[in-house]
Amino acid sequence: MKTLLKNGKIIDPVNGLNGNFDILLRGSKIIKIAEKIEAEDSEWKTIDLDNKLVMPGLIDMHTHLREPGFEDKETIKTGCEAAAAGGFTTIACMPNTDPVADNPATVEYIKSKAEKAAVKVLPVGSITKKCEGKELAEIGFLSEEGVKCFSDDGNPVMNSEIMRRAMEYIGSFDLTVIDHCEDKKLAGEGVMNEGYISTILGLKPIPAAAEEIMIARDLILAELTGAKLHIAHLSTRQGMKLVTDAKERGIKVTVEVTPHHLVLTDEAVKGYNPDTKVNPPLRSREDVEALKEGLKQGIIDVIASDHAPHTFEDKLGEFDYALNGISGLETSLSLIHDRLIRAGVVSWEDIVRLMAFNPARVLGLKIEGIKEGAVADLTIFDPEREWTVKKENFKSKGKNTPFAGWNLTGKPVLTVVEGKIVYDDRGGNGELFY
Ligand code: DOR
Ligand code: ZN
Repeated sequence: MKTLLKNGKIIDPVNGLNGNFDILLRGSKIIKIAEKIEAEDSEWKTIDLDNKLVMPGLIDMHTHLREPGFEDKETIKTGCEAAAAGGFTTIACMPNTDPVADNPATVEYIKSKAEKAAVKVLPVGSITKKCEGKELAEIGFLSEEGVKCFSDDGNPVMNSEIMRRAMEYIGSFDLTVIDHCEDKKLAGEGVMNEGYISTILGLKPIPAAAEEIMIARDLILAELTGAKLHIAHLSTRQGMKLVTDAKERGIKVTVEVTPHHLVLTDEAVKGYNPDTKVNPPLRSREDVEALKEGLKQGIIDVIASDHAPHTFEDKLGEFDYALNGISGLETSLSLIHDRLIRAGVVSWEDIVRLMAFNPARVLGLKIEGIKEGAVADLTIFDPEREWTVKKENFKSKGKNTPFAGWNLTGKPVLTVVEGKIVYDDRGGNGELFY
C-alpha cells in the first residue's frame, strides 16, 4: 500500500529541506521525495496537503500517562490519542505511576500496552525506588529493558549523596538523568510563584530560588560525575543563567521548557483558576522573557508539554488543595505557533529541532527526519486553521487546561506514525485510526 502526500511544505533543517515537495510512503517508510510525483496506480491513496506544513514526527519527552495506577486521570490509550491529536508521534512517559516505573516489569507492562496505542511510547525509569529518594531503582535492569532516561519527577532526590551516586551509576551506562529541580523544603506549602501577585492574591508562595538551588546543585554534581543531565521544565531567569553558564563550562547539560511557562505568567492565577496551578508554578513576566531569550539564543534544547492530566475532582475546590498540572498535549503546538512563531520569537526550523531532533537526541533515539528510506513519522500542521480550545473535545481524560476558550491560529491536522495515518483532523472532527 502506497500513500502519496502531495503539495506539502516540508520543514526539516537537518535534511536541508524547506519547500514544496511530494512525499511517497510505502509501508512504514518514506520511499521517495520529489517536486512532483504522479500516482501510478489507482490503489495509491493520494492526499493533497495544499501547502500545509510537513515536519518530522514531533516527540514530547515529558508526559504523564498515569497508567498503571491512576487510570481515572489518563490511560496509555487515551494519553497516546491525545498525543496523536497534538501532532506527536513519540512520547516519553514519566515514572510516577503506581507502581512506580522503578523495575523492569512495570516498564514491560507500559511497553506492551503501548504497542496497541496510537503513538510510540518510551518509558522513563525512576531514579530511586518508589521515587522516595532513599534507595536507587533497578537502574541496570531498567537499562536492559531499553530505558534511556531516569527521573523522580515531582519528587526530586533531595539527598545530595544519593543524587551523586545516581548520576555516577546512570552515567556509567551513558544514560541521562532528567531532573525536576525543586527544593521541597524551600517550596514548602507554596502554591504559586512568589512575588507581587502571590501577595495580592494571598496565596502561599514558592520562591524561584526553590528551583534554582536544585539546578545549581545538580549542575555541580553533573560536573563532578560527568553524567548527562537534562533539566526538566526550567522556569526562571536565574535558572536560565545557571544553565547558560554551565553549558559554557562544558557540563553535559540539556534543558527543556514548557509551552505554558512560555505563554503564561503568574498573572494568569488572578482568577484563582485551579487549572493554572502547576509545578513549577507560572512565573513572572521577567522570567518568561528570559525563557524566550533562551530560546532565541539557542540555549534551550527542548520544548516539552509536561502533560499532567488530572480528574475533575483533583482540580475542584480551593486553589490551595487542587493538584498541580496542565493537560498539555493537545494545545502545545498550536500555542507555540500562535504565540511564538507568529510573534517572531522562533522559526519553524527552530521548532523542528526543539520538538523532534533534540528530544530524540536526549532520549537516545535515532531519527532520520524526512528523507528517502527513513521511517515515515510525520506531523502535518495547518498554519491557517483557526480554532477554539474546548475541554470537551480533548482526547485526553485530563480536561485541566488554563487555555479553554482561547482562539488559536494553526493546528495539527494529520499525524503519521510509521507510515500510517493515526489522526486526521482535516475535516474538523479529529478522527483517530489505529
Ligand atoms: O504540575 C506538575 N504535575 N508538575 C510535576 O512535576 C508533576 C506533575 C504531575 O505528576 O501531576
Ligand atoms: Zn516535573
